Amino acid sequence: MLQVQREVHLSAHPDGMPSEDNFSIVETAIIEPGEGEILIKNRYMSVDPAMRPPLSNGQQKLNQVMQAGAIGNVVASRHPDFAEGDLVQHRLGWREYALSDTKGVTKIDAQGMSETLYLHVLGTTGFTAWGGLLITGELKQGENVFVSAAAGAVGSVAAQIAKIKQCYTIGSAGSDEKCRWLTEDLGLDAAINYREGSLRHQLKNAAPNGLDVYFENVGGEHLDAALPRMNALGRIPVCGMISAYNAAGARSTGVTTLSNMIYNRITMKGFVVYEFEPMREQFLSDMRGWISAGSMLYRETVLQGIENAPRALIGLFKGENVGKMLVKLS
Ligand SMILES: NC(=O)c1ccc[n+]([C@@H]2O[C@H](COP(=O)([O-])OP(=O)(O)OC[C@H]3O[C@@H](n4cnc5c(N)ncnc54)[C@H](OP(=O)(O)O)[C@@H]3O)[C@@H](O)[C@H]2O)c1
Repeated sequence: MLQVQREVHLSAHPDGMPSEDNFSIVETAIIEPGEGEILIKNRYMSVDPAMRPPLSNGQQKLNQVMQAGAIGNVVASRHPDFAEGDLVQHRLGWREYALSDTKGVTKIDAQGMSETLYLHVLGTTGFTAWGGLLITGELKQGENVFVSAAAGAVGSVAAQIAKIKQCYTIGSAGSDEKCRWLTEDLGLDAAINYREGSLRHQLKNAAPNGLDVYFENVGGEHLDAALPRMNALGRIPVCGMISAYNAAGARSTGVTTLSNMIYNRITMKGFVVYEFEPMREQFLSDMRGWISAGSMLYRETVLQGIENAPRALIGLFKGENVGKMLVKLS
């Protein structure tokens, strides 16, 4: 067995857009598991926008491994519930090997599906889209829906769930190529390239019947444009506000249209995926069914090698991913 493994540490708190210099690749010894422990060899690491605010607010400690999710195989076990070869999921960070007392480590029964799906459509991002749209957003059949960052991991799932529920669905994304994927492959009714012209005018044209649900991933200008389009009793499930994450305190640009909430009695509600945990089986059953029926498509943007993990994280803020951003370990 190899004697050393590599992991990614935060070496300086970024101010604004992070740079690769804010991170370092550190070699550490691989430690054999003691009684009750397992050693995991990671195969894929998750790269998520939510990792950005902790880099500046002190939650992610300097010279410590980057907190993140990953999947891998057990390569040595001294725990009765885990055997060599088991596929497992955990949040032990961006590292090639992880030693664990098994707390927070979950075995995955892939059920014939590709293992990487458990880091997106069948994992946290899929569950976020499902719960945010159906539970928090109280989506009803045939409504009018707008999803921002619609070509990303959460957004592409949310937009397709809206289509499965026969909703008129609009997505926004940062390039014409992404917009073509949304309309031509995912079947959205309209797609807006928010980098081209006025988002507010484009959304007005794309939503002739207004919006019943705005699935919020971006914040700032997107929220400002969506609020005036909301129909009476519309809902805005607030999933994320990525446009704010590089700013100190994750402050977004000014939203000036909040008064639209009053007469139309709009509900805007934040949520975190963990609150849907009691409904995980329902989510998995829905999602497996949709994937098998071909009504839930997905894409992955995969960077190779642990040394590229910082670049992958920075890439999320430049729109370099389509679908889920992942790092594959050799
Ligand atoms: N509440 C929860 O429990 C929960 C759980 C998971 C994720 N989230 C949130 O869900 C959102 C999407 O996460 P994800 O993992 O699926 O990431 P993602 O959408 O796959 O990747 C981020 C995408 O956001 C877009 N983007 C980046 N900066 C932007 C900006 N300034 N303005 C507009 N678009 C921008 C980029 O696409 P373009 O090319 O389109 O710009 C990029 O590809 C994030 O806000 C995240 O924090 C929330």
